[in-house]
Amino acid sequence: MKTPATAETRTATHTSRRTFLRQSALAASAAGLVRLPLHGQAMQVDAHIEVMPAETIGVISPEIYSHFIEHLGGVIYDGVWVGERSKIRNVNGIRKDFIDTMRAVQAPVLRWPGGCFADSYDWHDGLGPRDKRRARAAFWDQQDSNQYGLHEFMHTCRLIGCKPYLAANLRGQPAKELIEEIEYCNAPAGNIPSNSAAPAMPDSLATMRAANGDAEAFNVELWGIGNESWGCGGTMTPEEYAAAFRRYTAWTPDYGKPMRFVAVGPNGDDVDWTTRLFKSLYANPERRKLWGLSIHYYTSGSAQKFAAGDALNFSDDEYYDLLTRGSLMDKVVTDHWRAMGDTPGQPNVKLVVDEWGAWYGKGTQLGPNYNLSQQSTMRDALLTGITFDIFQRNADKVAVAAVAQSVNCIHSLMLAQEDRFCVTPTFHVFRMYLPHHGATAVRTEFTASLIDNPLGDTPIQVGGNSYIGQLAPVKTLAGLSGSASLAANGNGKLLTLTVVNPHLQKPMTTEIAVRGASVAAATGSVLRSHDVHDHNDFAHPETVKTAPAAVGAVSGGRLVHTFPPASVTTLQITLG
Ligand code: AHR
Repeated sequence: MKTPATAETRTATHTSRRTFLRQSALAASAAGLVRLPLHGQAMQVDAHIEVMPAETIGVISPEIYSHFIEHLGGVIYDGVWVGERSKIRNVNGIRKDFIDTMRAVQAPVLRWPGGCFADSYDWHDGLGPRDKRRARAAFWDQQDSNQYGLHEFMHTCRLIGCKPYLAANLRGQPAKELIEEIEYCNAPAGNIPSNSAAPAMPDSLATMRAANGDAEAFNVELWGIGNESWGCGGTMTPEEYAAAFRRYTAWTPDYGKPMRFVAVGPNGDDVDWTTRLFKSLYANPERRKLWGLSIHYYTSGSAQKFAAGDALNFSDDEYYDLLTRGSLMDKVVTDHWRAMGDTPGQPNVKLVVDEWGAWYGKGTQLGPNYNLSQQSTMRDALLTGITFDIFQRNADKVAVAAVAQSVNCIHSLMLAQEDRFCVTPTFHVFRMYLPHHGATAVRTEFTASLIDNPLGDTPIQVGGNSYIGQLAPVKTLAGLSGSASLAANGNGKLLTLTVVNPHLQKPMTTEIAVRGASVAAATGSVLRSHDVHDHNDFAHPETVKTAPAAVGAVSGGRLVHTFPPASVTTLQITLG
């Protein structure tokens, strides 16, 4: 009689078969319980990681750790903008703690003003003396005071030291407005040499910008041509959007500087959108200025419903299920990369995952006017690590990614309410992944038993604010996942390995080998908590924080390290 396979034995014999056979030690046991010689003794390990430094994937763009803020609930007003006369610590009206935290994670890019808000926003409303600005009806059932506008946003970016990424209003404004916004932002000060017989002269919009306080051009390079045009951005078909994209970008001034236009991509894993969009865009042989394709992929807190479930109260089953559905980011990235690549004549368009995160239902918001604000636990920290590792493993495909959203929102790094402020566990993961910025991703194989997803029978609800779709259920979650990179200035000797152990109870003792090299030494940091529901709040801002990792022993050029349950670890390994 056949014994029913456990999740572990199924995993070992099925999913990891290719790698398993290559890794002789683990291949000896289908259950992953093996004995390795260490200091001449036998040692039991649960998993194996093999890093292959010679198999490079690509340079990890620092812009995959980017940010997003929208005029929504308490994101801009209170989260970012407190006003110059506020008692809250600020720099010219911008919350100082926000600036400091964004600097601490070396935020490379900040996206604004939305989101869905962008497609009904008139950029003129945020210009000029603040006491003269008009309050306007805005998306998210808001009345927007317009105290925070284009100049305030650019000052925020300057204080952080990051690049601005503007989303254009494609639903509510004609192409002329985008051209003028580019001109207003990027026309240099002073006389502009003319390509006509007319003498060089100043640009009137640059003069207006200077009158509003900024003579220096903003030099905005990244432009989103609309947002979620399949939903709140205009309910368009891919063909309608392709026509709009061509018309809005066919001619725009660039003042001799690089411009990166990002087209609205799919909701979640809607490959049909991308296939039809690219077919339509490239059916026309005209030169088109497409640099990147945006992807929005959120992970709902509920297996049954989009943007539901509780941020703080969740069962073990819901924990595993959320991480399983979050791991689908890998499929989303590779599916769309393939769909773009299948388009004849398509140049090197990159993926821009400019909205991602775990999205829960109401229940933990900071207050009634803090729409979509939610708490963040260790579960969200693990999702952050899993997501970054996916982007890093796909360093050749993903050029930009922005978490939604940086403060007081869906998957935030910060919570801020009046004079109270704290960082979330997600902030710590952003810090822990800093060594990967600009490093070279290298292929790394993880061999560990899969975890059964107890809720893996439900089709997956994906969506955004105004569109809901479904993906096929996923039954298993990687028992250990991560990625590795070689530091740009380390002469091939400095390796960063980040690892997520999602098991709630099980520490994962793991043999780490580097093909063609030996491990000489390692240091590390770890984010863990004894309860995955743990989180920070204003009264307890340091419940979850990083600690030095108890790095395991190096023997025979290999490292044996134990990854604690429900943890994110960064190991910095020196190769011999
Ligand atoms: O991030 C919140 C909203 O989610 C954004 O405004 C929209 O683009 C998406 O649906």
